[in-house]
Amino acid sequence: MSKPDVSQSEQVEPMVDPVVAEYGLLDIAVNNAAVTPDVNPLPELDEDYWDRLMSINLKGVALSLKYELRHLITQDQGGSIINVSSVRGFRPRPNAAAYVAAKHGVVGLTKVAAMENDSRNIRVNCVAPGAIDTPMLQASLVHRGQTEAEFGPRLSLLNRFGTADEVAQATLWLASDLSSYVTGTTIHADAGYTSS
Ligand SMILES: NC(=O)c1ccc[n+]([C@@H]2O[C@H](COP(=O)([O-])OP(=O)(O)OC[C@H]3O[C@@H](n4cnc5c(N)ncnc54)[C@H](O)[C@@H]3O)[C@@H](O)[C@H]2O)c1
Repeated sequence: MSKPDVSQSEQVEPMVDPVVAEYGLLDIAVNNAAVTPDVNPLPELDEDYWDRLMSINLKGVALSLKYELRHLITQDQGGSIINVSSVRGFRPRPNAAAYVAAKHGVVGLTKVAAMENDSRNIRVNCVAPGAIDTPMLQASLVHRGQTEAEFGPRLSLLNRFGTADEVAQATLWLASDLSSYVTGTTIHADAGYTSS
């Protein structure tokens, strides 16, 4: 099966059924897909890239929530959804208006989804990663002509990039019953970047 495109409703809707067929129910969903930040100041806004980024990074999360929540509500057994925002959903930077706006939007979507489902034991939270060593971050470093040694200390109190596993651990906690009294909020997996 080819990878579904989260910006296309007709490709998102069928994502739930195979999960239910394999595991018997849907109880956890993580909305993670995104494309890399834009690179221009606002007077040079690339409108085509704005549309592409918004359709994936923001509408993609909304569409995923739409079909995940439809199923969770029908199933009536609670659930936990985690949306992936970013430090840029809280602390903007120049030359990335679309990415910053979309990641702020993911935080707003999370709060609305949590409020709409407060009586159903369906929890909806965000994880907001900082500088995590993935292909997306490496592409950004190449674009800036910088290395981890130059960039890491500016983005992390721990003076290093994070790993995907470290974000996964925060996501796993939100997915599990260990976070049963947590909804509508964000875990900042960013080594203190947004609080410093
Ligand atoms: N790496 C970081 O430093 C960092 C920091 C903050 C937030 N994030 C966020 O973490 C998440 C994961 O990012 P990453 O660093 O692993 O990036 P990545 O580029 O390595 O992975 C992004 C994934 O999204 C998928 N994707 C892109 N467009 C898609 C579409 N239309 N439909 C379905 N899938 C699509 C890609 O195939 C890829 O698997 C993203 O939401 C990103 O914004 C990353």
